Amino acid sequence: MKDMLPIGEKLFSDRLYYRRILPTDVTDEYHRWLGDPRVNEYLETRHNCPSMEEMRAFAADHAFDPAYYLLGIFIRSGHLHIGNIKLSHINFTHQYSENISYFIGPVDRQGMGYATEAVKRVSQFGFEDLGLLRIEAGAHRTHTATRKVLEKSGYHVESTCQRKMRRAGVREDQLIYVRFSEETQDE
Ligand SMILES: CC(C)(COP(=O)(O)OP(=O)(O)OC[C@H]1O[C@@H](n2cnc3c(N)ncnc32)[C@H](O)[C@@H]1OP(=O)(O)O)[C@@H](O)C(=O)NCCC(=O)NCCS
Repeated sequence: MKDMLPIGEKLFSDRLYYRRILPTDVTDEYHRWLGDPRVNEYLETRHNCPSMEEMRAFAADHAFDPAYYLLGIFIRSGHLHIGNIKLSHINFTHQYSENISYFIGPVDRQGMGYATEAVKRVSQFGFEDLGLLRIEAGAHRTHTATRKVLEKSGYHVESTCQRKMRRAGVREDQLIYVRFSEETQDE
């Protein structure tokens, strides 16, 4: 299995680029994002925020993994790191990924279309470079912003996992979104 985005290489879209997260990318600011309730309301880090050492170890563990792409999202002009996107749980035999997930860390950079741009580009990478036929994403039913991101990026709801997730003391449905490689996208 070949690493299709080795360290030192970048993927590009209009305003952004993406490259593998390295231990040296784990700054105080990046660590704060994961603990910020405005960012982690729907992230698993709200239950158990990793330490910086754990985050660095996690980045190192996956830096060369051809089936796990933990990528930083950077603004092309200025090289500012504004979030992450992950394409993971890849099964090359059956040509699918069970998870595309993402966050935009600085609150003042949210709502600018960056997550949508990133999901479109990394999905294209999954289909064209990794040869995937199907990519899945999970979204809480109540998470309007991420549902919009996925729908604007060509994903549709395939199924519902009823009351699967816990958030703020209540059970919530998780929607399973999917996009297939042959689906073209309305721009
Ligand atoms: C969810 C998130 C990734 C969206 O990223 P983003 O770059 O702000 O999204 P976009 O700018 O591409 O916006 C996509 C749509 O969501 C809408 N949106 C963005 N933030 C919103 C919010 N807080 N509430 C409702 N809608 C919102 C945008 O208006 C846009 O819809 P529109 O085109 O109809 O106007 C970002 O808010 C975030 O990182 N949140 C914290 C982490 C998280 O929840 N990640 C998803 C879990 S996998």
